[in-house]
Amino acid sequence: MICNKVEIRNFRNSEFAEVEFTDGVNVLLGSNAQGKTNLLEAVYLACTSKSFRASNDSQLIKFGSDGAFVSVDFTDTRKQNITFRYQLGKRRQIELNKNKVTKISDMIGRFKCVLFCPEHLSLIKGAPSVRRDFLDFAISQLRPMYVVSLQKYERILKERNTLLKNALDDRATYDNTIEFWNEQLCHEAAIISRMRESYIKQAEAYMAECFFEMSKRTGRENEIPTLKYLGSSKQESYEDLQVTRDNYMRLLHERPEREIFAGTSLYGVHRDDVEICLGDKSARDFASQGQQRSLALCLKLAEGEIVKKDSGEYPVFLLDDVLSELDDGRRKYLIDEIKGKQVIMTSCETESELYKNAHVINVKDGVYTVEVKSK
Ligand SMILES: Nc1ncnc2c1ncn2[C@@H]1O[C@H](COP(=O)(O)OP(=O)(O)OP(=O)(O)O)[C@@H](O)[C@H]1O
Ligand SMILES: [Mg+2]
Repeated sequence: MICNKVEIRNFRNSEFAEVEFTDGVNVLLGSNAQGKTNLLEAVYLACTSKSFRASNDSQLIKFGSDGAFVSVDFTDTRKQNITFRYQLGKRRQIELNKNKVTKISDMIGRFKCVLFCPEHLSLIKGAPSVRRDFLDFAISQLRPMYVVSLQKYERILKERNTLLKNALDDRATYDNTIEFWNEQLCHEAAIISRMRESYIKQAEAYMAECFFEMSKRTGRENEIPTLKYLGSSKQESYEDLQVTRDNYMRLLHERPEREIFAGTSLYGVHRDDVEICLGDKSARDFASQGQQRSLALCLKLAEGEIVKKDSGEYPVFLLDDVLSELDDGRRKYLIDEIKGKQVIMTSCETESELYKNAHVINVKDGVYTVEVKSK
């Protein structure tokens, strides 16, 4: 998977830019607040249709403008293009190869990328929702059907929560309809759990390998990371859909009054987590800052390896400010790791071994200029 070009208009702090990438390492280089991350954000839209940092689309539109445009050209087995049009007060329009996209599941997985940004450090110590988001994004890229299940699950959960919230005032509606929602919730929960668990198993193997290689250079290779999927129904395995479905049904029937009292759904995949350990210790409780960085980076590199295994090609690696988070040993490891892959990274540092053969794009005030190397 190669990202060939991105074009932006009135996007964030850039009025207009057309930036081409090479299939190796591309570095967006510039001081703080110039528009480096903004361009990564534009490329990332092609992957999920969502920004990794804006809470709503209007934030993407340049201040003072009433609309923005993003176009990303990429190649897998053929050349493809995806465009986004934003207009203040209107729904965004997406086109894939000039055809209007009406369902997000139709575009997800076309352009595959792995993003690593400073916020990903919270994968280790942050709230369970950070790890669930990681899983949801990673699996969605591989299996568009997962997006369909997730969307269904979220709709069911919302309806069920409303029912629970109103149950004390309107017990009759609750009694008449709860079973319908229970069944649907458990059905989708079983599908999602199985996919999450299977993904975690794959990620664990790659992550351990990567962590070993990385630690070799720092003399701490005896610590092996492990990952365990923690479903809210606390099963040892989520392989069997019927077993998971039955387990969730049993939990929902066990103490319905508790859920009515809480006014919300207490069991389901919205309460899942992933346990990350280093050796036999919980990384959340004991990992040092550096270990957290290594674990998060390894998890992200594992995400890339899984895409490669599944689709036969590496995704595009989008690395935001990753160098400033890594020591020399880890930087060297990363440099070796990204050889042969397409990388679009941002950096403020003008001196780095990484840039020796890289395609450098200088970024200043939303203007992107390719650096011409002197021989
Ligand atoms: N909608 C918008 N309109 C205009 N400017 C914006 C908009 N959204 C963000 N900006 C500005 O874009 C600038 C560049 O942001 P960006 O996050 O890309 O910086 P950066 O080059 O990655 O910097 P750093 O090295 O600090 O991470 C910021 O000063 C920000 O205020
Ligand atoms: Mg930035």
